[in-house]
Amino acid sequence: MKARVSSRERQENAAKISSHQLSPPPPPPKTTKNKAEMSCSAIPAQMRAWHAPRNGAPRTSLALSTTTPTPSSPSLTPKAHNLLVKISHAALNPADINFMADLPCWLPFRRNPIVGLDFSGTVVAVGSALVGSSSPQPELQVGTHVAGALNVVSVAVGRGSLAEYVEVAASKVAVVPSVKATGQQLSLRDAAGALGVAGQTAALMLESAHLSKGDRVLVNGASGGVGCVLVQAAKAQGAVVHAVCSAKNAEMVTALGADEVIDYTAHSSLPAHLAARFSTTKAASSSSSSSSSSSSPAPLDYIFDCAGSDELFRQCAAYLAPHGAFLTIVGNIGRSVILRSRYLPTALGGTPRRFQMLMLAPDGAWANKVAKVGLFCVCLIEDGDLHDFPVDSEWPFEQAVEAYERLASKRAKGKIIVKVAE
Ligand SMILES: NC(=O)c1ccc[n+]([C@@H]2O[C@H](COP(=O)([O-])OP(=O)(O)OC[C@H]3O[C@@H](n4cnc5c(N)ncnc54)[C@H](OP(=O)(O)O)[C@@H]3O)[C@@H](O)[C@H]2O)c1
Repeated sequence: MKARVSSRERQENAAKISSHQLSPPPPPPKTTKNKAEMSCSAIPAQMRAWHAPRNGAPRTSLALSTTTPTPSSPSLTPKAHNLLVKISHAALNPADINFMADLPCWLPFRRNPIVGLDFSGTVVAVGSALVGSSSPQPELQVGTHVAGALNVVSVAVGRGSLAEYVEVAASKVAVVPSVKATGQQLSLRDAAGALGVAGQTAALMLESAHLSKGDRVLVNGASGGVGCVLVQAAKAQGAVVHAVCSAKNAEMVTALGADEVIDYTAHSSLPAHLAARFSTTKAASSSSSSSSSSSSPAPLDYIFDCAGSDELFRQCAAYLAPHGAFLTIVGNIGRSVILRSRYLPTALGGTPRRFQMLMLAPDGAWANKVAKVGLFCVCLIEDGDLHDFPVDSEWPFEQAVEAYERLASKRAKGKIIVKVAE
């Protein structure tokens, strides 16, 4: 999918960018050689980075600096188990916006933080423990293409990925995999989206569910960053996928492999529609009768909620099988409703279904699961239905504010990517 940024918009936005700059253009960057790595790569001592010096919406919060010290400077030697990565692409996540809005900037450890979790890029220096034959991860060398997501603590203290370089623990990254169909490496743009928070969260949800072939799965928020991966991955694991998104995204989600698209905007109540479509009551009565099961509505086995809906859980006993589970990743789900639904007896308004709230702790192990077991659905690419990881739009580095505003609209179709460098 193509970027939706016209050249006129670019010019207009370029003019606005100057108001976001923290500092005037830097003096010519000094270059130095990395001591831990025997490479002769020239790494500038200063870099461009997007900071969030004040709390607020992206346009209020963000500021572009061109003089941020490159991580691990002045020696440019990463810590023993770390990598210095020259970032190629950063993928944006709703959590970035939450950090900008809610995590106080005045905290002493959080002055002028760099934003962003996901990244892909090229290793330009490795720490001393990663050099030579004793390295625990010998595949990580200067020149290796890697991708992953920084952990929340890194971002909380201001070491984000929306910058030209990042120092990251080797354990947080995966080597960018090859696409089976072409034998070629996944592009760095797609790797930032697939191996970052979206792909890792989809992997976490799937691992928590233990899908069996033929399971009926509902993905709520199927057209978003996480939902796009989840639809493909659940389908690849043999599930029957019912995807909830608005009609305008139906074609894309169908191309990702969804068996059915349910347009949530077409129903005054999505739970009521699901209760009619996947009724647990009718299924129970038809299975106990001798009538043909072909017309029996089958209840869902799993609901993956990537949009956040109290009602979807509260009423799910009507459409989620008793052995089923409701898994959500949306933290702002109304707590009182969920607590009441989850813990009260049914007679007092409780919902007799398993509920799990999942929180990803980004890690290379998750990124590797996505990369190695092909959760990023390479099979669809092989079939020729899909040639790209679903990317809503790709933005130049200077237009990160506009990219975040697109994310904040909650209308993204797939991942929003910022191109940091070639
Ligand atoms: N717990 C964790 O570890 C974790 C990890 C990752 C993400 N998250 C959270 O999970 C959520 C999804 O993340 P994301 O990156 O996928 O977000 P995203 O890419 O911003 O999601 C945008 C998508 O949401 C869809 N959408 C909006 N309202 C909807 C609704 N009422 N019903 C169904 N779909 C709706 C939109 O489709 P339409 O335009 O068609 O409406 C759009 O395609 C966010 O709240 C994020 O903070 C949590």
